[in-house]
Parts: sequence; structure tokens; C-alpha cells
Amino acid sequence: MGVTVFSPAKLNLFLAVTGRRPDGFHDLVSVAAPLDFGDELEAETGGRGYALACDDPAVPVDGSNLVLRAAGAYAVATGWDEPVRFRLTKRIPVGAGLGGGSSNAVAALRALNQLAGGRLGEAQLAGLAAALGSDCALFLAQAPVVMRGRGERVEPLAPGAAARLRGRRVLVFKPAFGISTPWAYGRMVARGTDYLPADQAEARLARWLGGEAAAEELLYNNMEPAAFEKYVPLPLLLAKLRAEFGVAVAMSGSGSACYALLHEPDTRGDAEVTAMSRRLREWAGAEIFMQEARLA
Ligand code: C5P
Repeated sequence: MGVTVFSPAKLNLFLAVTGRRPDGFHDLVSVAAPLDFGDELEAETGGRGYALACDDPAVPVDGSNLVLRAAGAYAVATGWDEPVRFRLTKRIPVGAGLGGGSSNAVAALRALNQLAGGRLGEAQLAGLAAALGSDCALFLAQAPVVMRGRGERVEPLAPGAAARLRGRRVLVFKPAFGISTPWAYGRMVARGTDYLPADQAEARLARWLGGEAAAEELLYNNMEPAAFEKYVPLPLLLAKLRAEFGVAVAMSGSGSACYALLHEPDTRGDAEVTAMSRRLREWAGAEIFMQEARLA
């Protein structure tokens, strides 16, 4: 028996890291949304134990991979331990702030739960997912959410606010270098000056949620200064995009992927995508990753 599960990428439209916690994680207030672009995970019973294959040789397929860690957690929680072969088709770049690892973990939990006949409900899946990655709750929600705590507390956006995001076209791009999430948070700690106090973060978010402003007005990420300090080309790319195309741009999560909100929601925007892609390649080199997508 086999199942195939879509494993989307995400974007943070709003990300305010508010401070460091005693457990070493950071508290944050964020608005994030899954994209219609992502990886694919196939799971099939058979073989011996758990096995993982991936089409991207740069992705480790040993026990450190979140797919196999999720499988282990699922077996412990349910006692269902049939052998499963996973095949991951990787499209989300690693070290990008697009949530690929957390998304793959959630995809593995969903695949296993289907194979095992739905042994766990949503709340139990959420409990397992929270221990695997800070973005897992968002991927379980499968909708635009407000994230709090270290990311594990999510609530769906109110319908009016979600409607201002849903379907928006974006151009996601990532230079050849990636950023490790612990490194980015480590830089925030070292800099010490980038945190936005929780009450200010909540007030800023509440203004957007309670108003009518478009998605452009929501964009904010206070992890940018830490990332930009090391990777100087990134802010230059964003500034050039803003100046030449008049688009709103931001970094997603801890980077290094950034995105531009496109002006046109339909195919009239194709010309904008083409022009932007050409300029990004000129500025950042041929190895830049680019992907057009929509907020789901
Ligand atoms: O949970 P996740 O695997 O995404 O986190 C990777 C690392 O990023 C954590 O070990 C921690 O160092 C840092 N992190 C953090 N605060 C968060 C999320 C992640 O400090 N809210």
C-alpha cells in the first residue's frame, strides 16, 4: 500500500522575534502561509524498518532527516511499526527559511497516519509535530496562521485577513548560500538589539488584522538585520527589486530565501515575473534559485 503527500513550503509575511527564552528557543509573533509550491513525499509499506530515498544528494537520508525522526515518533506514539519506504522529491531549497524540514516531518506524519488507518487525531498529531520542528504546527493547519510561542501555538487568520493574503502571487528567490536557523538566532542573540518587544509586535499585528491594508503593509521580519550583516548582497538585491519594480519584498523566516509580492494576481503578471527573474539572475548570478508561487 502506498500514499503520496504534498509537502508545501511556507513564507513568513510577518515575523517579529520578541525575545530569548530560558529553554534557548525564541518567542515570536508571526503570520505565515503555506505556498502552492513544495516537495512530494511518497510512502509505501514494505522492506525492512524505515528507509528514505531522496532525489537531492545534498539532503541527508540518515536518522537526522526529519522524515525518519517523524516516523520514529509516530511508531513510539502508536505502536504501529510496519516497515515503510519513503521517497522524497525535494524542490524546497535547504537553509532557506521556507520550512522544508518541518513540512517534510508533517508530511511523514500524515502519510503514516493514512497507512496506519488514521490512528491519531489532529490534536495528537500536533503534539508529535511540535517536538519535531517549530514550523510543524503551521503545516498541520494548512492555512494562513498567526504563530506564537516558539511557533507551535497557531491560530487561523480571521477570514477577512486571510482573504488579503490568499492567492497572492510571489516570486521566491534564494541566493546560492543558505542560512542555518540556529546560526541566525545566534546572531540575533549576539547583536541583542533587534528584538521587537511582544506588546509592540502584538500592536503592530493587531493594526493590520483590524484594518483593511493589503498584504504589502504586513511585511516585516526582524531577523533580516542579523542575516544581512553576514550576507551583504541580500539587502542590495531587495533594494534593487524595490527600486526597479516597486514591489514589497522581505526575507522569509531565518533566510536566506526572500520574496517579492507581485502586483498582478493573474497572467498579466507573467511579464513582471519574467523581467524580475532576468534582473535577479543578472544581479545574483546563474545559480540563484527562483520560484514563482501563490500563497495557499
Ligand atoms: O525548531 P527548529 O528545528 O526549526 O529550530 C532550529 C533551531 O532554531 C533551534 O534549535 C533554535 O536554536 C532556533 N530557534 C529558536 N527559536 C524558535 C525557533 C528556532 O531559537 N522559535
